[in-house]
Amino acid sequence: MNFIPVCEPYLAGNELKYVTDAVSTGWISSSGPYVNRFEEEFAKYCNCKYAVSVCNGTIALHLALVALGIGKGDEVIIPSFTMIASAFAVCYTGAKPVFIDADKETWNIDVTKIEEKITSRTKAIMPVHIFGKVCDMDTICAIAKKHNLYVVEDAAEAHGAEYHEKKAGSFSDIAGFSFFANKNITTGEGGMIVTNNKAVYDQARYYKNVCFPLDGPRNYQHENIGYNYRMSNVVAAIGLAQVEKADDYREMRIRNHQLYRKYLTDVPGIIFQAEPAENCVDVCWMNTIVIDSEKYGHTKEELIAHLKEKGIDTRLLFTGMHKQKALKDFGCDCSGEYSVCEWLTQNGFYLPSSSSLSEEIIEYICSVILKFKI
Ligand SMILES: Cc1ncc(COP(=O)(O)O)c(C=O)c1O
Repeated sequence: MNFIPVCEPYLAGNELKYVTDAVSTGWISSSGPYVNRFEEEFAKYCNCKYAVSVCNGTIALHLALVALGIGKGDEVIIPSFTMIASAFAVCYTGAKPVFIDADKETWNIDVTKIEEKITSRTKAIMPVHIFGKVCDMDTICAIAKKHNLYVVEDAAEAHGAEYHEKKAGSFSDIAGFSFFANKNITTGEGGMIVTNNKAVYDQARYYKNVCFPLDGPRNYQHENIGYNYRMSNVVAAIGLAQVEKADDYREMRIRNHQLYRKYLTDVPGIIFQAEPAENCVDVCWMNTIVIDSEKYGHTKEELIAHLKEKGIDTRLLFTGMHKQKALKDFGCDCSGEYSVCEWLTQNGFYLPSSSSLSEEIIEYICSVILKFKI
C-alpha cells in the first residue's frame, strides 16, 4: 500500500475545462462570468437566495459579522471546540468571542450552556457544524430569537449537510463556508457567504469590494473602511465545476464514513461522533475517532505512530479556544470548564478522508487499527 494522505482534493468534473476557458478568455480577476455563476449555483445548493464569494472561509466569517454590523464592544458566542478561524473572525471585528463547551455526543456546541453566557453585550451566536454535522439549530434559533441575537453559521465543514430537511447555511441570518483543499467542495483556497436577507447581502458585497458603491459611478470616494476579499474568476471556475458535482462528492464522503463505521463499530475503545439524528444528513467531512485508551489498549499517540509506520496519515484535532494564548491575550475569558472539548483534543484524531478513497483502502486502514488493539 502506498502512503495514504489524510485528505486530497477531488477534481473529477469540468474543473480543467472551465479554468482553461477562464484563462484563455483573459478573465482571470474577479470580473468574469464564473464568479456570478458559482455564486448563483452555490446559493441554490444551499437553498438560499444570495451568495457572495470571497478568498477563504475565515474571511467569509469576518465579512458575515461585518455585514451584520458587529464590532468593538460586542460579544459573539462560539464553541470552544472549533478551528481557530471561527474565533479570529470575531476578533478581526473588534468584538470578543465567548466560549461554550462541546456536547459529548455530537461534539457540536452544547446548547444547554449558551444562555448562561449571554450578556447585554452579546450580539450573535456562531454555531459551528463540526465535521459536517449540523448543530441543534431549532434550539439555537429559539435562544437567539428570545434574546434578540443574530445567528451566524460557521458552515465551513458542512457543504450540503441537512437538518430537518433544511440545508446548512439556510438557518441563520448569514453563514460562511470554506473551500479549502480538504473540504467536500473545494477551490484550493476560497470561501462563500450565503444569506436570505437582501440588506445583509448588499452589505457583504459592499464591504467585500473596498466599499465601492454598489450602484452609481465609481468616483473613488469611499465612505467606509472596506476590504478586498474578492474571489478570482479562475478560482470560481473550479468552484462551479465542484458545485455541479456536489451531490456526488457528498455521497462519497458519507460512504467513506459508513465504511469506517462498518469496520470499526463495536471495537472497544473507539468512539465516533453521534450518528445523524432523524431527518438529518451529516456530510462526514473528516472521519474522526476518539480513543479510550483503557479499552483500546493503546493511547492515541501510540496508535497514530503505528498508523504512520504503516503509511497511514492522520491529523490531530483542534485545541480548544479557551487554551489559545492569542485569544487570552486578546482579552477573552478563558476560565471555566471545557471537559468535553479537552477530551476530544486529547484523545481524538482524523483518519484519511479523501472523497476518492476506495473500500479496499478503508478496509486496510481499519485492519491496521484492529490488529493493533490489545
Ligand atoms: C470550522 C471552520 N471554520 C472556519 C474555517 C476557515 O476556513 P479557511 O481555511 O478557508 O479560511 C475552517 C477551515 O478549515 C473551519 O474548519
